[in-house]
Order: sequence, then C-alpha cells, then structure tokens
Amino acid sequence: MKKEIMKKIMLLLFVVILLPITSAQAEGKKGLLVHASIYGSTIETAYWIKAIIGNENHLDVKTLDQVITIDPYDYIIIGSLTRNEKPVKPIYEFIEKYRDKLAKKEVCYYLTCGDSDETMVLKVPGKDAHLIGGRNYLVDVMQKYPDIKPVAIAGFGGRQVMPTLGFTDNIQIWLVGKLAKEGSPWEGLDIWESLVKERVEAFANEVRTKILGIRPRENIEELRGYWTSLQPASLADPTKKKFNPKPSYEHKSTEKIYFARSRAKGDLALGENLLKQWAEENGIDLKEQVRTSFNIYYHATKNYGGEPIIAHIVIATFPDEPGNLQISFRCWDKPDVRKGIEADITKAEELLWADGRKVD
Ligand SMILES: Cc1cc2nc3c(=O)[nH]c(=O)nc-3n(C[C@H](O)[C@H](O)[C@H](O)COP(=O)(O)O)c2cc1C
Repeated sequence: MKKEIMKKIMLLLFVVILLPITSAQAEGKKGLLVHASIYGSTIETAYWIKAIIGNENHLDVKTLDQVITIDPYDYIIIGSLTRNEKPVKPIYEFIEKYRDKLAKKEVCYYLTCGDSDETMVLKVPGKDAHLIGGRNYLVDVMQKYPDIKPVAIAGFGGRQVMPTLGFTDNIQIWLVGKLAKEGSPWEGLDIWESLVKERVEAFANEVRTKILGIRPRENIEELRGYWTSLQPASLADPTKKKFNPKPSYEHKSTEKIYFARSRAKGDLALGENLLKQWAEENGIDLKEQVRTSFNIYYHATKNYGGEPIIAHIVIATFPDEPGNLQISFRCWDKPDVRKGIEADITKAEELLWADGRKVD
C-alpha cells in the first residue's frame, strides 16, 4: 500500500516538476540579442553571431527600441559600439531599466571598437594613464552592475568608414589620431578595420557551449562573409590594407615613447610570476593597478640616476590565441632619462622568452 502511494507521489512530482523542465530543455533556450550601432558594424556582428548560433536555436536580434520586455527570454546578449572608451549611453539605460531581471538571466556582453588590443595603455592630457581596448571597455559596466554576472564577454574590434563619419565624429577621430603617441592605424585609409574574426567566433561558440549546452559550430569560417567585403581600404591607393594585425614583436623608441610588445607561451599566472621574479632581481617596485580575468596592469618603478622612472606593463590573454600571453611595456619619459628602464625591459623580455617560451 505504502509502495503504491510512493509511486503515485513520484509520478505526480515528475508531471509537475520534471516534465516542464525536460520539455523546456528539449525546446531549447530562447535568446535575445539586443544591439546599439551607429554606422552598422555592430549590426553585422549581431547577425554573424546569430548565424553561428544557428537558426535551429531561437535568437531574436533587435535594436534597443524594438524591445518592450525581456520576460520571454532565457538569455540576453547585449552588443554595443564603443564611444569614449565605453558602450554607448542607451546600452547603460537598457541595463538600468531591466537590471533586476537581467541579474536573474544568463547575460553576455560584446563590443565592436576601434582598438582591439587589450594590452593597450592610453595616456592623454588631463587623464591618468589607463587601460583601453577590447574587453577593457566593458569593465565600467561590469563594475556598475555587479549583480549581472556575464557568462561571456568580448571586444571584437570593429570598422570605421572615414568618408561617412558625421561632422563631430570626424573631428573627434582626427583629434584622437593626432594625440596617439604610437601613431593612428586609420591614417590615410577610407575604411579601417580592426575586427579579429576569431573573437566573434569564440564568443558565439561560448554561447553555444555555456548557455545552450551544444557543441561549438564546425566549419565556422564559412560564415566570415558577414564581415568580409570587397571594398578597398583606400579608393586612391589600392596597395593599402584595411586591417594590419599587430606584429608579434614590436619595439619603438621615439621622442614621445619607448614601447615594446611581444608574445610568450603561458598564462596570466606564469606571466605574473615571471614579472615578480624580474622585479625582485632588478630592484624594481612592481605595483598592480588593475586585474581582470583577461589582463593585469602594473606600474614598475625604479630610480635611475636619482629620478624615479615608471614603466607601464600589461600582461593579457586572448580567446583568439589560446595558450599564449601578450605583454606590453610603455615608458613616456624622455629618451635621455629612460635608458635604464629600456635595459631592464629587455631583461624582462629575455626572462619571458626563456625556456622555449618565445612565440614566432
Ligand atoms: C566619435 C567616435 C568615438 C569612438 N570612440 C572609440 C573608443 O573610445 N575606443 C575604441 O576602441 N573605438 C572607438 N570608436 C570606434 C567605434 O567603436 C568602431 O568603429 C565601431 O565598430 C563602430 O560601430 P558601429 O559601426 O556599429 O557604429 C569610436 C568611433 C567614433 C566615430
């Protein structure tokens, strides 16, 4: 008798609790990708992500204005262009409006941006030197809304079509180009692209695996047409390229900057240990400034001839380069006083590349 009652209770439990869960899983999770774009690049990436996620998996792609509720969705992807080192204001307003609901859903953030290098430190008049590029632009929104814990984040890089920029945008971009101590990559181009294709693919595949619980998409290269276009970088000069990936190794010494950037095999923990070892061996005071899941920014200070000189160092890992570490060193002191730090930076690089860690 007892057994019979137990059986009935189990059956009831299955119908009331388990059946709806299993059938929802069978139907698949429902997603919304909401985006903000001015010149269209972020929209292109939205449909590219949708294509990778696949039409068999429900994903609505909408502008901010088209969204009246997020209730029907299990997960939300929020995509924005970058303006002044952040997602645009309407994205913040959207997050603010749905903040409590978003905190209970699975959320992903992505950006298109001009600078996709997450080892980049910017120093401009009136502001302290600070991290920019790629996912660094998402740190502010994540700090502002800590209750929303994104499942995946990405900073893809993006596109700028110079002749069609609005009047004030044009002036701003011209000014940024003039202030850039390391030169501006869009100089002389009609179309400048910085998007790293593999990052879009890694992000969309993270949504597939982490949210939808399905395998990464195979033959992913077939969908790159969403971004690739036949237009030249410059109508006047056909030899110019729209996108020049940063070289593996870079050393620059000008009046304004000493800059070194390179790669090594390893992860953030290894990079951190090696930098600490280098600092200890060379009497350098290494102070962490910012730490995220993908990069660490340090100030390395030492007295050379009585003057404290600072090197700005960033170590970073990238989804498009698994197993590798990238590192950048910057010193903005004048060439005559920074000789000591330049020699110490060379030592740091030698230590990073030792034991076969140098990446070609
Ligand atoms: C006025 C202006 C400001 C920008 N500010 C930044 C910035 O701070 N950092 C960055 O990496 N890219 C910046 N960009 C580049 C854009 O984010 C990038 O071109 C993006 O792909 C544009 O997206 P959309 O085509 O969807 O509008 C800026 C572009 C303009 C025109």
